[in-house]
Amino acid sequence: MSRVAYVNGQYVRHADAAVHVEDRGYQFADGVYEVIAVEGGVLIDEQGHFERLGRSLTELAIAWPMSARALKVVIGEMISRNTLRDGFLYLQITRGVAPRDHAFPAHAKSSCVMTARRARPYDSNEISRGVAVITIPDIRWKRCDIKTISLLPNCLGKQQARQAGAYEAWLVEAGGLITEGTSSNAWIVTADGELVTRDSSAAILNGITSQTVIKLAGEEGMALTRRPFTVDEAKAASEAFITSTTTFIRPVIRIDDVAIGGGAVGPICGRLIACYANYLDRQRAGG
Ligand code: PDD
Repeated sequence: MSRVAYVNGQYVRHADAAVHVEDRGYQFADGVYEVIAVEGGVLIDEQGHFERLGRSLTELAIAWPMSARALKVVIGEMISRNTLRDGFLYLQITRGVAPRDHAFPAHAKSSCVMTARRARPYDSNEISRGVAVITIPDIRWKRCDIKTISLLPNCLGKQQARQAGAYEAWLVEAGGLITEGTSSNAWIVTADGELVTRDSSAAILNGITSQTVIKLAGEEGMALTRRPFTVDEAKAASEAFITSTTTFIRPVIRIDDVAIGGGAVGPICGRLIACYANYLDRQRAGG
């Protein structure tokens, strides 16, 4: 069956899906997005993604293109038309189409597009393979809490990582503190077994996966502190990992040229991966 995309009220062949050249998303990156995982045909963390979407829209004064309820109907339709069992749903809302002018248009209607992409179902064995990250300066704007489609610094950073043979780049602000990855949140485990990830602020995206992992760690009685950490602290950590909707939990076994945890996946990360697999099973089963 051919892939189907949703574009402003219509379901079209993915290969034919297109937006207007004067869409403000195209002209100004004036829009927001969400990526939601689908496992066994079920949306993972639907509520969290919708709440964050609403927040991003409010922060940028972009109107919902339709009610959240109607949006969920379209998402359901996309899952069924694409016979999507496992994969990702991409949803983008922009301020709409208007003659190019930086100031907001008086009468534009928000644009909404969605695409679906199949992926292999969550596999803890595959996920458990460790990856390398590099550290680079964080050159982004001061509202990284908004999930805007304006991702140029993130793309530049990810490309730099790929060219260095790494999976992700951790972004570093003045003072040597790591904010997050280009498309994921950053975590370490200290020598005395404490999980550390940065507190939510305008410096990072408040990751939905990260919020779930925080909850799971709490249920497991693991020690966790939300605070920034430095590159030096990360390199001295006993474990490190990243979280995101597309990578779930991914162990980090090298930061720049320093091996973390002797280059092997650590026990705390392994335990969280098992908890997360269990959590996905529960979500698939509807709770
Ligand atoms: N990225 N930080 C940044 C900068 C991100 O772009 C993402 C997600 C995250 C993790 O957030 P979440 O757990 O809600 O996916 C953190 C998505 C997956 C992307 O751009 O494809």
